[in-house]
Amino acid sequence: MSADVGFSKGLAGVVADETSISQVQGDAGRLIYRGVPIEELAENATFEEVTHFLLRGELPSESGLEATRKALLDGRSLPQHVESLIDSAGKSAHPMKVLQAATAALSFSEGVVDLKDKEGNINAALKLTAQVATAVARFSRRRRGLEPVAPDPSLSHAENFLYMIHGEKPNKEEARTFDVALILHMDHDFNASTFAGRVIASTEAGLISSVSGAVGALSGPLHGGANERVLQMADEIGDPAKAKEWVLDALKNKKKVMGFGHRVYRTMDPRAKVLRSMLEKTVAQKSDTATYEILLTVHDTMIEQLSAKQKDYIWPNVDFWSGSLYRLMNLESIDYTPIFAVARVVGWCSHIVEMWQDNRIYRPAAKYVGPESAQFPGLQKRSS
Ligand SMILES: CC(C)(COP(=O)(O)OP(=O)(O)OC[C@H]1O[C@@H](n2cnc3c(N)ncnc32)[C@H](O)[C@@H]1OP(=O)(O)O)[C@@H](O)C(=O)NCCC(=O)NCCS
Repeated sequence: MSADVGFSKGLAGVVADETSISQVQGDAGRLIYRGVPIEELAENATFEEVTHFLLRGELPSESGLEATRKALLDGRSLPQHVESLIDSAGKSAHPMKVLQAATAALSFSEGVVDLKDKEGNINAALKLTAQVATAVARFSRRRRGLEPVAPDPSLSHAENFLYMIHGEKPNKEEARTFDVALILHMDHDFNASTFAGRVIASTEAGLISSVSGAVGALSGPLHGGANERVLQMADEIGDPAKAKEWVLDALKNKKKVMGFGHRVYRTMDPRAKVLRSMLEKTVAQKSDTATYEILLTVHDTMIEQLSAKQKDYIWPNVDFWSGSLYRLMNLESIDYTPIFAVARVVGWCSHIVEMWQDNRIYRPAAKYVGPESAQFPGLQKRSS
């Protein structure tokens, strides 16, 4: 029996395990992937490079990068039964539910886990990363009443995803913006979905089964589901002139404003900074900027009000600006959380591969607050 190490609601501040994949430095507003600041990766790296880096722990050489690229290309198709499952989901199904089911269905052929087969597990992770993108794009097309678009092997992961969604190849600028958005979402130490995936994988359940659980955790509005809710909020506000009043009313009624707040960051989320700067560049080239203008007023009002209430530890997080950027790329808000998963799947898998090198099942203690001793009268003797 292990010693009682205390109680922390929501596990706040609890150190649950070790990792060398990423670190959120909450007070500094800094995020590093294996020591490299996220801003530097956003500026210089590609999704494929960061995938290799996160999964393997080292930056790829040219041949290493080529091998990762090839594995991502080769993994893009879906088995027939997964295509059928996606196609059978009604148009009203939420894409995150469909993705969770599709991921679980990808695990049908998953064998017994070999924790020490790092290479085999990395290969499975690369295939799953490719398939998650195809599954998200397929359901997005089906939901919109369109035929799925087959992957194009001449395109990078980001380009190909946009191509499978829109049926048209993106221009270089748009593809790069999306590539960077994916990089920003790939990992974030022990966030809820990664932790959920780790808990499942710690039982030695398979990689894909663990990821399907992580997809479920990501879907919630307090986690990845917030990006879709930010756009719902912008649409509900409808007009930049009404945004300030909407925020004041929300705060008065103790409603949470989606896309703000974080368990760890006590200052601006560095990913939000990068997204905002990409968004501003994109906005400058577009004519329909109403969503951006609404969110800008929401943002400024929140900062002003939270500072006046001494709640200046609440800042915009990654989900605040991403949707506005995606909307300018003609992506629909219901697809924003699945797009988060298209990136985060790499983080989930990297954590599982890392953890399996030295695995111990997660099994915390509970603070029991029920009765110590209770009676069990027969059914007839219980009062109704
Ligand atoms: C991210 C989040 C779940 C963190 O939760 P947490 O660490 O448990 O923090 P709490 O929910 O306890 O919030 C602490 C305080 O800040 C306030 N707060 C936190 N986020 C807020 C928000 N988005 N809008 C308004 N107030 C907020 C809470 O009301 C609470 O105030 P109180 O102390 O007066 O009760 C929370 O900030 C949230 O729900 N944000 C909105 C959803 C979101 O954007 N999620 C994406 C995260 S990347």
